[in-house]
Amino acid sequence: MQENESSRLQLDGDEMARQIGYMARVRDFNAASGDGRQKLCYVETYGCQQNEADSEHLRGMALEMGYGLTDGPENASLIVFNTCAVREHAEQRVYGNVGAMLKYKRRDPSLVIAVCGCMAGEDHVARRLKKSFPYVSIVADSRSLWRFPELLFGVLVNGRREFVSGGADVVAEGLPVARDRSVKGWLPVMYGCDNFCSYCIVPYVRGRERSRSPEAVEAQFRQMLDEGIRDVTLLGQNVNSYGRNAREHFETDFPALLERLDRVPGEYRIRFMTSHPKDASDRLFDVMRDCEHVAPHLHLPFQSGSTAILRQMNRGYTREQYLDRVRAARERVPDLVLTSDVIVGFPGETEADFEETLSLVEAVRFDALFTFIYSPRVGTRAAAMPNDTPPEEIGRRFDRLVAVQNAISAEKHAAYEGKTLRVLTDGRAENKPEGWLSARTGGGRLVVFEGDESLIGRWADVKITGHTTWSLSGERVG
Ligand code: SAH
Ligand code: SF4
Ligand code: F3S
Repeated sequence: MQENESSRLQLDGDEMARQIGYMARVRDFNAASGDGRQKLCYVETYGCQQNEADSEHLRGMALEMGYGLTDGPENASLIVFNTCAVREHAEQRVYGNVGAMLKYKRRDPSLVIAVCGCMAGEDHVARRLKKSFPYVSIVADSRSLWRFPELLFGVLVNGRREFVSGGADVVAEGLPVARDRSVKGWLPVMYGCDNFCSYCIVPYVRGRERSRSPEAVEAQFRQMLDEGIRDVTLLGQNVNSYGRNAREHFETDFPALLERLDRVPGEYRIRFMTSHPKDASDRLFDVMRDCEHVAPHLHLPFQSGSTAILRQMNRGYTREQYLDRVRAARERVPDLVLTSDVIVGFPGETEADFEETLSLVEAVRFDALFTFIYSPRVGTRAAAMPNDTPPEEIGRRFDRLVAVQNAISAEKHAAYEGKTLRVLTDGRAENKPEGWLSARTGGGRLVVFEGDESLIGRWADVKITGHTTWSLSGERVG
């Protein structure tokens, strides 16, 4: 038996009780006001899976507060933008989309518009929203998610505008949650990040790293399986440091957490992301191999193939150390599917540095690669570094890298042809005619095949007969 490990950074129970009280008060307010029709809430989510998971809490709280959920802003009384700050482009889209809500606010002055998530954790964003978007009533960063009922109460009942950011970095257990009906689900095991990679805004907007207790993680895990979820992704900015940082030390580290969850009986898969190469241990790979439910899928961002650039990025490993981790993972985990993230055009990246990135991609042969152009973020160290590579040159590097990876992805996919794979069917296939379903392999590869919709949520064996860069296609067998 494991000992009981509750996070020392847990939100105080009285504080959570206060928020539950606010949910009831907002519910009463909503019931007493308006024309008797149920008010609706619309949540628009940007960014990563961590934000998807936060949006499930926002929707859960909205349901508790008497709102129904809707999938567009037109008829909503509460519109929440759950935003991402990781690149400039994402932020510009949010400003545009928030601006487009003005017409709804003019039609219905009681409409409440909230901007939450990572952008709300940036001072300059909060200032701009305060000044130039007077119809936005709530600006609250992801660290303040649990305070949403109190903030909404302040707006609805006291007519205030609420701006909150920063505050203590805590783990808030017990928030309501509303998940999509899907076979896939997100399970945050930790929040925040202490790594301060020099390009990255996340540690500033999500605060210091803190982990949920193994008990809380397992309880949510079991609940998700009870709800019919069969593919659970454990989330954290660096899951390999779960329960281990300057402020907390759990007996249960990340591999032990995987072992603990793997003991829960049932037919399901566990995935996790993201793994930081500096903390990806041989033991993690052994556990991936030995635990029946843990998918043979590793997302291990490398960011650059040049040790000089990695040092500037404050990543804490060299090119050789990264390659060593890949070697160890592949030795230990049979049929490992390996995916990664990379940044092109980091300040000071020379043609020679970029060629090291290309050669790393050619040497490792990832199954898939998420390729980003460097975007300077206000307040990060890299934003102050001289960056004189012309954007056109960075664009050309980006295209060269994408072409190399696309060829590798296609070759990797071609090698699946003729094989029969066990897949979990998760829905109707996008961009395909009626009767096509989408599914995922253990390694997370997308498979499309023809079949009846009653297969959704179930496992199937599919013989692979075709492929594209992005997906495999096949026929159901057996
Ligand atoms: N915690 C994860 C990454 C979270 S952000 C990790 O360490 O791997 C997801 C990806 O966005 C990163 O891996 C990185 O490739 C990219 N990214 C982060 N900041 C960026 C920036 N300023 N410009 C471009 N890409 C960035
Ligand atoms: Fe950002 Fe680095 Fe933390 Fe990932 S590990 S969230 S890239 S600072
Ligand atoms: Fe995720 Fe974007 Fe925030 S990537 S952590 S939503 S900055």
